[in-house]
Amino acid sequence: MKKISVIGAGNVGTATARSLAIKELSNEIALIDIRQGVAEGNALDIQEAAPLLKFNTRVTGHSDLRAIDKSDLIIITAGHPRKPGMSRSDVLSTNIPIIYDIADNINQLAPEALILVVTNPIDSLTYLLWKKLQFNRQRIVGLGGVLDTSRMASFIALETGLSTHDISTLVLGGHGDNMLPMPRFSTVNGIPIEYLLDQKKIDKIVERTRFAGAEILEQRKFSAYETPAAAIETMVTSIIHDHKQILPCVAILDGEYGQKNIAMSVPVQLGGEGIEKIIELPLLDKEQALLEKSASAIIHDLKKVIAQQNM
Ligand code: LAC
Repeated sequence: MKKISVIGAGNVGTATARSLAIKELSNEIALIDIRQGVAEGNALDIQEAAPLLKFNTRVTGHSDLRAIDKSDLIIITAGHPRKPGMSRSDVLSTNIPIIYDIADNINQLAPEALILVVTNPIDSLTYLLWKKLQFNRQRIVGLGGVLDTSRMASFIALETGLSTHDISTLVLGGHGDNMLPMPRFSTVNGIPIEYLLDQKKIDKIVERTRFAGAEILEQRKFSAYETPAAAIETMVTSIIHDHKQILPCVAILDGEYGQKNIAMSVPVQLGGEGIEKIIELPLLDKEQALLEKSASAIIHDLKKVIAQQNM
């Protein structure tokens, strides 16, 4: 891949640019932020580490969105992060104009790019961006499940004392308080976690996963960025190397899991073409009911936006 653009040079965008550069996932990484000098400074700071960390990727900084010109992949992290006490939905209306402005620039300057949405609330903004761009839905993917599954796997490792390498988890639904950590699809080297942990401990892990973002936010008063950047790197690697990993990602749904006109995390095959396949799992009735609860929270937000836009 020749060029990846990262829009937003806050903590998540900057950590992402750094980790993609170190992995040499593209020839160029354009880091962009409308705050004059921020992306330029952060990019230079990363670039100057190249001789020590031994990477050839060129990291450039820009304060003009037109720097996305001819990108193969665009990662959108720009927007207002939530503050302690806020839900991710609380920043939806402030972040919509930012996403729409980015959409206009994508249409003009990089109409062939793959898009990875990171700005919160990720599910709603992935859907609204797709509506605006009118792209084939496989070219737009959102961060969600990969971040949440890493958190869930970490909590299982902490609880059991077992190796993080062996733990595989699944989280479905919206990247919000109603997300669905799925113990039934979580294993340690193929062994379902039910064999290793009692129900009370599993329930605790599920609950901690759902509020893991808030836990960090409440402690230090600003949002997570290490694990989000690692999750983005995982997704980008699967796309660029066409690994076709099955990862839970925010996808535009068209009937899968009984959902339409919505985007949320489901297991997808992620490869060079973006979302190459959506994997539909047979859910138990109680799991399907929880997935619908998660979906209805996103639909509630989207309906509010659409009503405001028509006013
Ligand atoms: C979190 C934010 C990035 O979950 O949504 O930490």
